[in-house]
Amino acid sequence: MSNRTFQHLMIKMTMEINEKYFHNASAYSTKAVLAVNCITCHNGKAHPEAKF
Ligand code: HEC
Repeated sequence: MSNRTFQHLMIKMTMEINEKYFHNASAYSTKAVLAVNCITCHNGKAHPEAKF
């Protein structure tokens, strides 16, 4: 899988987590109090340990 495809999946996954569990339309909405975004898991790492 190309990195571009993978990145696309990551964005899709992040959006789905927010919609499904936090009921936010967008993690980047100013109304989002609780949300996950790239930093939630990555914390600056390219390959974060999967603990979910
Ligand atoms: C729920 C946790 C989680 C979230 C949220 C998340 N990621 Fe990831 N991401 C991971 C994990 C775990 C890996 C490592 C997979 C592996 O090493 O096989 C990864 C790997 C990647 C990689 C591949 C790195 C490489 O060089 O192979 C990219 C690019 C990436 N994430 C981008 C993003 C972006 C952009 C976002 C935000 C839209 C995001 N991720 C949000 C967990 C997450």
